[in-house]
Amino acid sequence: MALMEPVDLCGIELAHPVINASGTFDAIAARRAFGDALAEQFPFAAFVSKTVTLAPREGNPPPRLWELAAGMINSIGLPNKGLERYLSEDLPELTGLLPVPLVVNVMGFSIDEVAQLVSAFAEREEVAALELNVSCPNVETGLMMGAEPGEVSALLERVRPLTAKPLIVKLTPNATDVAAVARAAEDAGASAISLINTIRGMALDPRSGEPWLGGVTGGISGPAVRAAALAQVYSVSRAVKIPIVGMGGIQSGQNALDLLRSGATVVAVGTESFRDPAAGALVARELAGLAANSDVSFLT
Ligand code: FUM
Repeated sequence: MALMEPVDLCGIELAHPVINASGTFDAIAARRAFGDALAEQFPFAAFVSKTVTLAPREGNPPPRLWELAAGMINSIGLPNKGLERYLSEDLPELTGLLPVPLVVNVMGFSIDEVAQLVSAFAEREEVAALELNVSCPNVETGLMMGAEPGEVSALLERVRPLTAKPLIVKLTPNATDVAAVARAAEDAGASAISLINTIRGMALDPRSGEPWLGGVTGGISGPAVRAAALAQVYSVSRAVKIPIVGMGGIQSGQNALDLLRSGATVVAVGTESFRDPAAGALVARELAGLAANSDVSFLT
């Protein structure tokens, strides 16, 4: 199995199976820091944007992060400049700098809002696919659409007819039956599933005993969630035929290989990029080495 050969992700050809998780790698900031070297050595086979919402958002009050022994909790709250400025400022800049396909991650606070977001990108040639974030634990309504099969069906039924682009549905692990939600998404026209988003968590200020995070609760990510991601990708891969973007605690080629073996078609590196912005490239290199040096087999 040649893991560094091009991979087809619902019609998008990727040079290899390692992409970024939304919100964990800022290509525009990386371009400022690394200059043209970024395009020459882009760490991912596709770039997934931070979530874009209809209106600008400031995000949650600080503190927004809590470090764990094996990862972190974030309560960022989807700060972004909103659709209008994303279209006029970020999209042209990204188009100029990205050597890989662009996936725009969007989130609405109602089905109507998601429909407006999908419509805005429906005909944009610069955009290869949309990822629908129905799984952010850090906003009041973030989990509503992604935790219940019926909600996900209703959303897809409304937005699927609005664009021919692939729609990747990003699911929450904070659901009773994630496989059932994934199946509902597939039945209603999703092109792929991505999972897992963060697991809801909380930390207390050791001095006051009050919640540490400004948003009170947040989402756990990093190595702490790796085993949960593996189990959920495995379970969803048995429930759907559409491709899966697997993520959760990837730090090495071996971690990526485990997710691929469990049923993912593509993997996404997230929290590890905060420590090392080149983590994606490292994971891809290690994965290629594993594929070249061993008899890699996949669960069927
Ligand atoms: O709070 C955040 O910005 C995180 C978003 C997410 O987990 O989808």
